[in-house]
Amino acid sequence: MALKEEIAKRRTFGIISHPDAGKTTLTEKLLLFGGAIQSAGAVKSNKIKMHARSDWMEIEKQRGISVATSVMGFNYKDKKINILDTPGHQDFAEDTYRTLTAVDSVIMVIDCVKGVEMQTEKLMEVCRMRNTPVICFINKLDREGRDPYDLLDEIEEKLRIKVRPLSWPISMGKTFKGVYSLVNNSLHLFKGSKSKLDGEGLNITDLSDPQLDTEVGENDANQLREDVELIEGVYSKFDVEEYRAGKVAPVFFGSAVNNFGVKELLDSFIDFAPEPLPRETEERLVKPDENKFSGFIFKIHANMDPNHRNRIAFARICAGKFERGKNYFHVRDNKKIRFSNTTMFMAQEKELVDEAWPGDIVGLYDTGNLKIGDTLSEGEKGMYKGIPSFSPEIFKEVINKDAMKTKQLEKGLNQLMEEGVAQLFSYELGARKVVGTVGALQFEVIQHRLKNEYNASCDFMPMNLYKACWIHSTDKKKLNEFIDSKFRHIAKDKDGKLVFMAESKAWLSMVQDNFPEIEFHFTSEF
Ligand code: G4P
Repeated sequence: MALKEEIAKRRTFGIISHPDAGKTTLTEKLLLFGGAIQSAGAVKSNKIKMHARSDWMEIEKQRGISVATSVMGFNYKDKKINILDTPGHQDFAEDTYRTLTAVDSVIMVIDCVKGVEMQTEKLMEVCRMRNTPVICFINKLDREGRDPYDLLDEIEEKLRIKVRPLSWPISMGKTFKGVYSLVNNSLHLFKGSKSKLDGEGLNITDLSDPQLDTEVGENDANQLREDVELIEGVYSKFDVEEYRAGKVAPVFFGSAVNNFGVKELLDSFIDFAPEPLPRETEERLVKPDENKFSGFIFKIHANMDPNHRNRIAFARICAGKFERGKNYFHVRDNKKIRFSNTTMFMAQEKELVDEAWPGDIVGLYDTGNLKIGDTLSEGEKGMYKGIPSFSPEIFKEVINKDAMKTKQLEKGLNQLMEEGVAQLFSYELGARKVVGTVGALQFEVIQHRLKNEYNASCDFMPMNLYKACWIHSTDKKKLNEFIDSKFRHIAKDKDGKLVFMAESKAWLSMVQDNFPEIEFHFTSEF
């Protein structure tokens, strides 16, 4: 019984956005509501800010600090909320994609001035892969933004998801008056105070109520009446099940920095957002209320102290109760493993925990046994599915600078890849090793960490590659023929999966035409 109750209490989600849309600010305001932090600025100071490339050491340092803010747990009303932080900087996009495998829903922040931006589109594609439910928060209403109807159309078009506004702004920018909640028909007036939490709304169940005119002026009151009529006419009634199936995104408007519209968002979030959901292993669907514990690792964070190789592995609990100090089964290694040092993250504090429940994220101190994607269970063998790798954008060949340190280099590279810093592709031909990343930053990070932590040095030689394509075919003979004919361009990823390294888009489409029996995928999960 306790298990079911604990599950029903939990909401585990991620906030995603294009950098600068207001993700950090919104996170902070949510934590303030939960009483998890006392003052504004606390999360902000941990934010990874990226300005110049030369700042990367600072960024890595902050990444170290940000372990504590990787997961922020807090209690709100009768719910235990876990926010999983996702790095905004696009060079760390892979980190974000993996984190999204560990959430049950997301809140997507969109800047009302800029609309849907590139990074948001990419993140939405990842959400779509698993039908993750999405709530949109259109932010910065205190600025002169785009027309709300245009923004909604743009979300539908660019993010390819149906929307349903659940609140509506009254004007914008300098004349921004507030939002009207379509959930409980209440009016929230904007006072423009950054420090105060916005209070309860004014109940205006009937829009013809003259109080509306008194509060916002006749013009805006009439505009709101028109807008609400139009919305109720154009958009179908909000259906929670449709949202939970990832088919429609409810939309809220507000201003995070002014703490405006955040409470409505949070209140609706705890009403609608799904509790911990079942997850698939290679063998079956595992339900959270099963008695036996299981979970998977979605992130590994190295400690920044080079003298200690300890790492923190972040595990999402999928089913059953996790207990500290108990022996669990490490599926990939086929052996038992025990964690005596286990932390959970409440606000910005790491706390030693003795037990955790589905939906929770625990930090396991690890000395190198765990990899991203590993499954822990009470004996069952199926690995959890769904930690995909995406084709990197930039590829460079590793050139060992010190033949005496070959072993160190190999070990360092492998461990950094296990942490998910970048992807390694090994060509059979000539035993060449190629590192692939989403952003240029990682190469410097890798070089620096190899030197400092593993005493190995390497150079990176740029390679002209377009994409890494995971290949597959049901026809084994054809697959072998393909491998033979393209031997020079075939490599293996860290799990030994076959990858075709395409040099250009045009060439890839030619190869696709010539080998119709071969499937080419830009992600390792298909
Ligand atoms: P991110 O995590 O998505 O990258 O965005 P972040 O919260 O850091 O917000 C980016 C900038 O937008 C910040 O300004 C923040 O103060 C501002 N911002 C957030 N919400 C609102 C809002 O509702 N209205 C307005 N006008 N601005 C908002 P900054 O100048 O980069 O930082 P700071 O100096 O204000 O801390």
